[in-house]
Amino acid sequence: MMSTSGVVKSVPTVIHARITGTGSYLPGAPVSNDDLRTRGIDTSDEWIVERTGIRTRHLADEGVTSSDLALEACRRALEAAGRLPDEIDLIVYATSTPDFIFPSSAAILQHKLGIKNGGAAFDVQAVCSGFAYGLTVAEKFIRSGSHRRALVVGAEVFSRILDWNDRGTCVLFGDGAGAVVLEASDEPGILASTIHADGSYSDILSVPGQVSHGKVIGSPFLQMDGKTVFKFAVKVLSEAAIEVLDAAGLNTGDVDWLIPHQANIRILQATAKKLEISEDKVIVSVDRHGNTSAASVPLALDLAVRTGKIKRGDTLLLEGVGGGFTWGAVLLKF
Ligand code: COA
Repeated sequence: MMSTSGVVKSVPTVIHARITGTGSYLPGAPVSNDDLRTRGIDTSDEWIVERTGIRTRHLADEGVTSSDLALEACRRALEAAGRLPDEIDLIVYATSTPDFIFPSSAAILQHKLGIKNGGAAFDVQAVCSGFAYGLTVAEKFIRSGSHRRALVVGAEVFSRILDWNDRGTCVLFGDGAGAVVLEASDEPGILASTIHADGSYSDILSVPGQVSHGKVIGSPFLQMDGKTVFKFAVKVLSEAAIEVLDAAGLNTGDVDWLIPHQANIRILQATAKKLEISEDKVIVSVDRHGNTSAASVPLALDLAVRTGKIKRGDTLLLEGVGGGFTWGAVLLKF
């Protein structure tokens, strides 16, 4: 702006972070509830559908890693955004089932995508809230001006950490990946975000094992107090939603689509009810893929975008909740 004295004053411009493409990937053929029975699990389609809404899940073949699934989801997201891999200068990769202890799955994914520009790549560990965490972190990088184009990924091979003799947990989870391209933009994208943790609840959902001196110490399998998780999830998902809506000066009536973590249809329904959001505004894909942890929200988002449900300009409320305990919400203009 030119002042009367001829001095040029710089006007700070706001950098927004906007999703420009989505992608997802589910490995192999769907595995039905009846298929689990034939694999020797003492369960029934009726029990699983009634308590969780899950009808099928996908299980990666042995040797297939989280970053293999992430690669497919990212290729689709890049194609949707019209971007080449080397245009990405930041990868934020949410997972609790990384390929290795290190290097990070993000660095492995960067190499698999053929990115050679030396951009940043790191993992985020927030279990089923991982995508909300990843999106929140990536948004801050973009808004700061330090990075222009991010891939935010959630990818899991949860089948590897399930105790297939524990019917109370093994029927609930599946493998998959989802990704978005998040770019610096003049137009508003992410309107508000919030992330939280309360480590005092760490034992209600955990894989309490570690590798030490060449051995697994503790348990390498997921364990859960299902009833406590259920109540906690509904409470914090509602609170986080109100928090981001308040921050953006909006209310639940302004939300076109609620996309909660796809853990269980009853958690989704109870959250929508508490927020007084009609169930037909809730994106549900848990029936198709079960709980895929950090992958669940970007998977649900991409499936709804590709079926034409979610359209450009819609106001979306994305939410995650999971082990830690962690939770978060991201409100955005798509
Ligand atoms: N098939 C058939 N029966 C099963 C079963 C299965 N897969 N799993 C458990 N049961 C049985 C139990 O053995 C128990 O039988 P009993 O009464 O004879 O002892 C009965 O079903 C009830 O078990 P319970 O654990 O009390 O069920 P619940 O009503 O709490 O439902 C969950 C269990 C896991 C579905 C429910 O607690 C839940 O959805 N929690 C949230 C889980 C979640 O979403 N976690 C991830 C969040 S990120």
